[in-house]
Amino acid sequence: MERTSPPLTDLVRRWQHGWGVACGLSPADEADGALHVLSGKPGRNLESIVLDADGNPGSLRLHAAQVAGSPHPDWLTVPTTDPAAVEDVLSSEGLRLAPAREHFMTTDLTAHPQRTAGARYAVDLVREGPILAARITDEHGDPAAHGVMVVHGDVAVAHNIATYRAHRRRGLGGALMSALVRESVLLGASTGLLTASKQGHHLYTALGWTRLAGVVSAGTRR
Ligand SMILES: CC(C)(COP(=O)(O)OP(=O)(O)OC[C@H]1O[C@@H](n2cnc3c(N)ncnc32)[C@H](O)[C@@H]1OP(=O)(O)O)[C@@H](O)C(=O)NCCC(=O)NCCS
Repeated sequence: MERTSPPLTDLVRRWQHGWGVACGLSPADEADGALHVLSGKPGRNLESIVLDADGNPGSLRLHAAQVAGSPHPDWLTVPTTDPAAVEDVLSSEGLRLAPAREHFMTTDLTAHPQRTAGARYAVDLVREGPILAARITDEHGDPAAHGVMVVHGDVAVAHNIATYRAHRRRGLGGALMSALVRESVLLGASTGLLTASKQGHHLYTALGWTRLAGVVSAGTRR
């Protein structure tokens, strides 16, 4: 098994910062080897992100036990190079595993391919402070795809990238990411970070992103 290295831990911190900004959350507290943030999402009162589950299994068990025993529906997110082993630990502590693993990915934004949307689509990008919000509409002005990228120093974190079902596999995900990356690079970013769903993993891999680790999530059983 490949060990989670300190640089990965730091990338997880930087990813969480961008994700938190994208979601309008307060900054996370770091304690006992994890980041803790009040996420306010249904089923995710307090979300804890374990920073070095592979190198510090004690912190994984500690936080798993805390989430399992919480009176609230809390949530645990674990970047790891050994997702199956982490799932065993979380299940044995009594947590309810999320239906699917995700993927922690990165790329060199300065080398990102530039894709464009077809002629029937319009790409629109607005910036509010560190947050870039892109959306693609079709020829009727109806929404076809949207997504966000948060720029902080030399890192840009992509969040909530989605193409509406009827418009998928027409290059819109690629065009959306290209627009966000182009603007992020102009703002000084060079490293991209994100967590990807299975479908997202296909898209980002096609755009040259690489997988750093799996991401296992689980919640309080109630
Ligand atoms: C992931 C998602 C944004 C992709 O959007 P999209 O507009 O369909 O992506 P594109 O058409 O630009 O795809 C570009 C390439 O990525 C790859 N790809 C994208 N979706 C794929 C899929 N479901 N399966 C396999 N490959 C896929 C393909 O190589 C594709 O090129 P091709 O169609 O010529 O084979 C879309 O499926 C989606 O919104 N899914 C639900 C929400 C989600 O999971 N978002 C990602 C969060 S991380």
